[in-house]
Amino acid sequence: MITEIAEIGACAEDNEKKLLRAADIIKRGGLVVFPTETVYGLGADATNAEAAERIYAAKGRPSDNPLIIHISSPEDAEKYTYVSDTYKRLAERFMPGPLTVIMPSKDIIPKKTRAGLDTVALRCPSNPIARRLIELSGVPIAAPSANLSGSPSPTTPRHVMDDMQGRVDMIIDGGDCDFGLESTIVKIEQDGSLLLLRPGKITPEQLSRIAPVAVADAVTDKLAEGERVLSPGMKYRHYAPRASLILLDAERGRQAEYIREQQGRVALLSYSENIDYFNEKLPELFIYDLGGESDEKAQAHRLFAILREADKENFDTIFAPLPQKEGIGLALYNRMIRAAAHKIVKL
Ligand code: TXA
Ligand code: MG
Repeated sequence: MITEIAEIGACAEDNEKKLLRAADIIKRGGLVVFPTETVYGLGADATNAEAAERIYAAKGRPSDNPLIIHISSPEDAEKYTYVSDTYKRLAERFMPGPLTVIMPSKDIIPKKTRAGLDTVALRCPSNPIARRLIELSGVPIAAPSANLSGSPSPTTPRHVMDDMQGRVDMIIDGGDCDFGLESTIVKIEQDGSLLLLRPGKITPEQLSRIAPVAVADAVTDKLAEGERVLSPGMKYRHYAPRASLILLDAERGRQAEYIREQQGRVALLSYSENIDYFNEKLPELFIYDLGGESDEKAQAHRLFAILREADKENFDTIFAPLPQKEGIGLALYNRMIRAAAHKIVKL
């Protein structure tokens, strides 16, 4: 398949033409990769079961893992789900934005798109390119992250090309994604309370101002063998670098001592303020700048790009500091323990 690349630039008229062309591909059942404020999405018409099947094939994704449906306006949710008062309050506060809400599905969304579940995940992205594309398509757009199954979600056009060139009809190049980790996912329970299934930029603290929030165990802990998962995506090992990633729960002095004893090619993800320290203690060590220790937005923005970079270098072991579970830190913690397959060393 030949993949068209449409670069979004300074000319509004040209951009509109490119998005019209992309919308036409969606309407005809094709695949278009588009930017969002979280990560790039691999989009197709959510009302077309065959198009959904093409998404699973392009990603190499198991078809029991349902897709998020992207809408251009929060009110459109009524067409696809039975909306509740909690949804309306969430929408008013956080939409458009990086929040996905799981609600009972209407029949218009084919079972293929939602992997046979009777619920559907809805999200209204704030990225203007994404929203214009959905508007012009005239249909909701089903889109998982635009990576090959098992690699980190793409946050730059380069990542998308590496994974998707030749597998999709069009890639819209809208520059780097703003946040860099996937959306927060909550399920609205029957009593109107919220169950957090995937942490993201919208934090539990923020959500709890709308309704009571419980955090699913799988967000922070390892699932027991055979345990039933609430969100199919939880059971897959995601974002896994080829090297063994190990999270260190220790201050930098202990980290340096521990790393000094390691054999093989070793890399470290370090907070910006510790880089000089590690360079001095361990001159041979390969160091990636994860961002300032208290700048979680910088860390979120860089994490997946660093994991992809590190993957090319054939390291045996990559070390990283264990994040705090507060605020956006919970999203970093969740992605990093999964990339590390829960390998945490407390020193
Ligand atoms: O930021 C994002 O959410 C990005 C952009 C493209 O919007 N999308 C994304 O999609 O991360 P994906 O497919 O990589 O992750 C969606 C997650 C999966 O773990 C899936 O299992 C879960 O959402 N999910 C989807 N529908 C669900 C449902 N009805 N019930 C429970 N979990 C669901
Ligand atoms: Mg994904």
